[in-house]
Amino acid sequence: MVQLSVNGVAHKYDGDPEMPLLWYLRDLLELAGTKYGCGAGLCGACTVHLNGKPVRSCITAMKDTAGMKITTIEGLSPDGKHPLQLAWQDLNVMQCGYCQSGQIMQAAGLLKEKPKPTDADIDAYMTGNICRCGTYQRIRSAIKKAAG
Ligand code: FES
Repeated sequence: MVQLSVNGVAHKYDGDPEMPLLWYLRDLLELAGTKYGCGAGLCGACTVHLNGKPVRSCITAMKDTAGMKITTIEGLSPDGKHPLQLAWQDLNVMQCGYCQSGQIMQAAGLLKEKPKPTDADIDAYMTGNICRCGTYQRIRSAIKKAAG
């Protein structure tokens, strides 16, 4: 039995301990904002926070979430108005949009560690989050805007 918290709500999980957290979030809790891209920890589309730090939920087994606090894009802010979400909207960052919840969750991890990141900080921290549409410049601008 795994007990965990997802977006502030307590849950108990009794299934396969090796099942990826991504499946749990999307298929059991129906939190579909977290996306499946590569399934191998290489693209960042599935990024969520585990006790406040970005992780790839496709390669995080349920057994490793015991006692943890998970935050998904749906729980990043109560009203969808996290500074990053507002900056993303203001600067029209999204193109196809598929990778963007992962991008925002990764960026939220960055701003927790470095509230005023430099370009180099942003590039280093965001390098594992791939965008097929190539929105990297707008992502960088939005992170800076959110940082104020
Ligand atoms: Fe998890 Fe690509 S789907 S890193």
